[in-house]
Amino acid sequence: MKTTLKNLTVSNNPVVFHNLAVIRDKNTDSEMFRASVIRIARIIMSKAFSNLPLVPKKVRTPLMETEVKVIDPGAELIIAPVLRAGLIFSDIAVELLPAARIHHIGLYRDEQTLKPVPYYNKLPKNFSNPLNTYVYLLDPMLATGGSGAAAIKLFADLNIPIENITFISLISAPEGIARISGEFPDVRLMTGAIDERLNETGYILPGLGDAGDRMFNT
Ligand code: PRP
Ligand code: URA
Repeated sequence: MKTTLKNLTVSNNPVVFHNLAVIRDKNTDSEMFRASVIRIARIIMSKAFSNLPLVPKKVRTPLMETEVKVIDPGAELIIAPVLRAGLIFSDIAVELLPAARIHHIGLYRDEQTLKPVPYYNKLPKNFSNPLNTYVYLLDPMLATGGSGAAAIKLFADLNIPIENITFISLISAPEGIARISGEFPDVRLMTGAIDERLNETGYILPGLGDAGDRMFNT
């Protein structure tokens, strides 16, 4: 399936491959599943933040003054985990970006229609400087792309430039990437793997099953 996403990054890190193998295995328990997801998330996320704007700053080392680079203090950083499964990513994201604000997005996928159903949204009515706002949407699974597209739209509707929105997933289906690239071709997508396809009930093949259930032992 053809994608027109300009900014798609699929990890080729051996630690990601190794831990994807762990979480795909149906015999992996929730404790091990979470530990492996966290290892993958740390690697994908450190790459995802490469678009943040830097500004110069002077600091004095114990030896001399020098010019360094810091993340623009004027940039607004938003971490947006999609409930439930995106929650596991948010601790890592905040560890790496302690100045970020966290906006939880409550969406679940209706099992019959496969359409996203919103149930929680505490986004502000507007962002004071949308052009200098950077959003990191966290959701381990991009399947049909319905939930991802709905989450991206929430921020697009608040005038955040699409190229400032990064969607971070563990596993993506070609169908979901095609959907996102059709609606938001300028979005940044960082993923651990692109799988083969969806099955007739909308699950990613080979995938890992239901990410939320495996993570939260439900
Ligand atoms: C999963 C996943 C995504 C969505 C992906 O969530 O975490 O949010 O499905 O599917 P889509 O691309 O077809 O929309 P789910 O609805 O199972 O909710 P949960 O995280 O609360 O289990
Ligand atoms: N949601 C999941 O958790 N897994 C899939 O394969 C598809 C949607």
